[in-house]
Amino acid sequence: MKKILATLLAAILVLGCFSLASADTKTYKVGVSIYQYTDNFMTLYRNEIEAYFKSLETDEVKYEITMADGKNDMAEQTNQIRNFITQGMDVIILNLVQTSSADAVIDEIVAAGIPLVLINREPLAYDADGNTLDEQYEGILNNPQVCYVGADARQSGTYQGEMIAALDNKGDINGDGKVSYIMIEGDPENIDAQYRTEFSVKALTDAGIEVECLDDQVGNWDQTKGQELCANALSKYGDKVEVVFCNNDGMALGAQTAIEAAGRKVGEDIYLVGVDALPEAIDLIKEGNMTGTVLNDHIGQSHAAVDVAVQLLNGEEIQNYYWVNYVKVDKAYAEANY
Ligand code: BGC
Repeated sequence: MKKILATLLAAILVLGCFSLASADTKTYKVGVSIYQYTDNFMTLYRNEIEAYFKSLETDEVKYEITMADGKNDMAEQTNQIRNFITQGMDVIILNLVQTSSADAVIDEIVAAGIPLVLINREPLAYDADGNTLDEQYEGILNNPQVCYVGADARQSGTYQGEMIAALDNKGDINGDGKVSYIMIEGDPENIDAQYRTEFSVKALTDAGIEVECLDDQVGNWDQTKGQELCANALSKYGDKVEVVFCNNDGMALGAQTAIEAAGRKVGEDIYLVGVDALPEAIDLIKEGNMTGTVLNDHIGQSHAAVDVAVQLLNGEEIQNYYWVNYVKVDKAYAEANY
């Protein structure tokens, strides 16, 4: 009898403690929508968002994360956001499919009283005709509970060009006085693609180097497309191609396969640069099969996004913009740091 009583008492105590602990635990609901799960870079980014939220959990605070794949379809992503609103998310982290839809989406989220952290695809200000302006966006500036976390893509483009300008021959392999290049672009709606395309070449011309664009094509950030476009350009322009600029490493990995298949050799008769510093690109740089890349710091960006989301959950005041620096990754840097 005594034993039964003791067991009962113990059970009551345990239950009591348990309910006490759960009463003290606050669980925040976090909705995260990523423009497309198959994107190499955004995969690293979203995994780190989850891992970092988990690392911040304590006995008192938990984060229940609902992650959604926008499948590169704005209508699909809009539905996901509406579901997040119905589910009563405490904060939303959003990687827009289309930055031109920012107005509509921000309005709905703000009207629902949910704080919002935009990541990776920066919506820009635009004029009455819908042309983008080089200015920060009012939809972010005017909303104290909305912010953007990202990196300034001009810097990544500049670093790409500077890595070519720093070579002994400044990228002019055949010595004809100019650098003949092909450009493989990401999604042209994306400011990262626009700026990288412009500023990579600008870094060369700013250094007094003459350039010739042989080909400029849209590869939509995609590895297979990058391979296809590079293969076509190499068969069309052959030895004339001295530099392959890719707006990201995904496409550069594809381009590298095409370069090898065409019997060319990076560092000897062609140069190749990307952006992101994907692990596969770092390996190629160390082996000498890619000239360089630019670290698009997914760790720094995801942590900054989560940190500001937590500040918003705590009702703290935030800034509207948070910037994370890019880092130039040539062979020496890759060997020393990876
Ligand atoms: C990255 C790309 C990625 C894109 C997605 C860019 O910042 O460099 O690899 O595909 O973001 O929006």
